[in-house]
Amino acid sequence: MAAVIEVKDIVKEYVVAKKESGLRGALKGLLFPDKKVVRGVDGISFSIQPGEIVGYIGPNGAGKSTTIKMLTGILHPTSGSIRVCGISPQADRKAVVRKLGVVFGQRTQLYWDLRLGESFELLRRIYQIDVSVYEENLNELSRVLRLEEFIDTPVRQLSLGQRMRGDLAAAMLHSPSVLFLDEPTIGLDAEAKHAIRSFIKEMNRLRGVTVILTTHDLDDVEQLCDRLVIVNHGKVVEDGPIDALIGKLTPRRMLVIDLQEPRDDLTHPAAEIVKQEGLKVWYQFEKSRISAAELIADLSRKLPIQDLSVKEPDIEDAIREVYKGPSA
Ligand SMILES: Nc1ncnc2c1ncn2[C@@H]1O[C@H](COP(=O)(O)OP(=O)(O)OP(=O)(O)O)[C@@H](O)[C@H]1O
Ligand SMILES: [Mg+2]
Repeated sequence: MAAVIEVKDIVKEYVVAKKESGLRGALKGLLFPDKKVVRGVDGISFSIQPGEIVGYIGPNGAGKSTTIKMLTGILHPTSGSIRVCGISPQADRKAVVRKLGVVFGQRTQLYWDLRLGESFELLRRIYQIDVSVYEENLNELSRVLRLEEFIDTPVRQLSLGQRMRGDLAAAMLHSPSVLFLDEPTIGLDAEAKHAIRSFIKEMNRLRGVTVILTTHDLDDVEQLCDRLVIVNHGKVVEDGPIDALIGKLTPRRMLVIDLQEPRDDLTHPAAEIVKQEGLKVWYQFEKSRISAAELIADLSRKLPIQDLSVKEPDIEDAIREVYKGPSA
């Protein structure tokens, strides 16, 4: 199948003023600004198939928003190539915009002074959406996002959660086949987050929309994404199915036991005691070295165990490993 998005070795350099300290430095900077080049994105490649929901994640400053802006044609890469639905966003922004829906959680594409419904109508004209398509879409979007309650409210009076639902609808009015979401759940309460996630799933299921999602909320990732592309310092550091990433990045598991009485023969050759508090002991062990069942069997032969639990690493543990960087 042809990829919907094909990104090859893109680089984005920003030129920023170099600041020197002190008054003299500030004045010098004002008169003879010293420039330096920062690489916001430093050679990123990936390709995305139709219907995928991909989490594009990484720590602050990793290059996520810069990538999304290049994919949507807002920014031009310094080098490298991008194809979205076969189109270069830089060569033909107009054509690519018809294929894309974009939501930046930090900012709105609605019009503050208009009612929500009027904002949609204006977008219909700007995007030249066929009236029947528009009406059908708006009906469906109203139903899924429950927009009726505030469709006649001026955008400036909407709560953040309502505004985000409005923004998502706005991004889908022209039936795009790809949706870029940059932190769509930022600042929302649990219920609003749930509404947004259900909407994303619905659009993917009903319309086969391909989704690229940037977020710092790991519940978004866990509930929505099949695959993660993790970036750090402008480069892709991991790319794969979530389960595989967890398994690869966090080979260690934790066994916690509660003893019936204090003991001092706690050690096991295949596990490391990482913590001990009263009668509670935490063992860390490598999955590949010993199974949880074996470890439990060994320990219970020599220790009076009251209770125990095994903690599987989750997506949060995996991501912490990546952000930490390669371990020494
Ligand atoms: N307009 C700009 N001018 C100069 N440098 C920029 C500009 N925009 C981004 N950068 C730099 O490029 C790098 C990547 O920024 P980007 O906004 O893409 O990160 P991000 O992954 O979206 O981070 P966050 O999670 O904080 O949103 C950062 O070092 C940032 O300071
Ligand atoms: Mg960002």
